[in-house]
Amino acid sequence: MNNNNNILLLVGSPKSASSTSNSLGDYLISRLEQYGLTVGKEYIYKLVRKEEGQKNLLTKVEEAGLIILAFPLYVDCLPAGVIKALELIADHRKSKEDRDKQGFAIIINCGFPETQHNNTAVSICKIFSREVGFEWKGALSLGMGGAIGGRSLEERGGMVRNVIKGLDIAAQALADGKDIPVEATELFGKKFIPITLYTKMGNLGWNQQAKKYGARKKIKDQPYL
Ligand SMILES: Cc1cc2nc3c(=O)[nH]c(=O)nc-3n(C[C@H](O)[C@H](O)[C@H](O)COP(=O)(O)O)c2cc1C
Repeated sequence: MNNNNNILLLVGSPKSASSTSNSLGDYLISRLEQYGLTVGKEYIYKLVRKEEGQKNLLTKVEEAGLIILAFPLYVDCLPAGVIKALELIADHRKSKEDRDKQGFAIIINCGFPETQHNNTAVSICKIFSREVGFEWKGALSLGMGGAIGGRSLEERGGMVRNVIKGLDIAAQALADGKDIPVEATELFGKKFIPITLYTKMGNLGWNQQAKKYGARKKIKDQPYL
């Protein structure tokens, strides 16, 4: 039996606490708590590997009035652990005759600068929500996730002001039992630094990593050609 005031944030990045998904989810939690709601958080990758964790996941989902799934885009889709979690939830709900009304919303971020890379994954989640009988509350979707890089939004400051505004509006709507408004989705998904700067920083990061692992000369290799 779920409690409508009980919200569950599921973080679906394998990077768990040091992920951008976690930073975005944490900010939303802080706002929802200001509205007097109780928010629990679980890291999907810590739960799905073992049977005990899977049971824990299903119990936590069952008890929540609203489930918020925060995850990164992996190969235009969802990370494997998140797919596993959604499959477990779907199987579990299929076996239940009397299903409670539960809301479902997502926060997705990707590494490419453009938000629209996330569209297929958003649709997958929307279909999942419908198939398992959740009430779809909407999606907050952004590109340039690497620029947040797992740091808190407060630490990222003015650069992410529209992301913060979008989350503020979404929190208020969700606390009132409403869907995430279009205004929140638009603000959240706005590019927050110039694309040229983002790609320059990205290239710098890749080169630094290649240097660290002694792979500087191999960075343009195409082993599968
Ligand atoms: C295996 C893998 C696949 C990825 N696939 C995509 C992709 O298809 N498109 C994209 O824009 N970013 C892709 N990324 C980048 C991540 O979405 C991006 O780094 C994101 O900010 C990570 O978020 P997190 O910190 O919440 O895990 C991929 C990253 C990994 C590790």
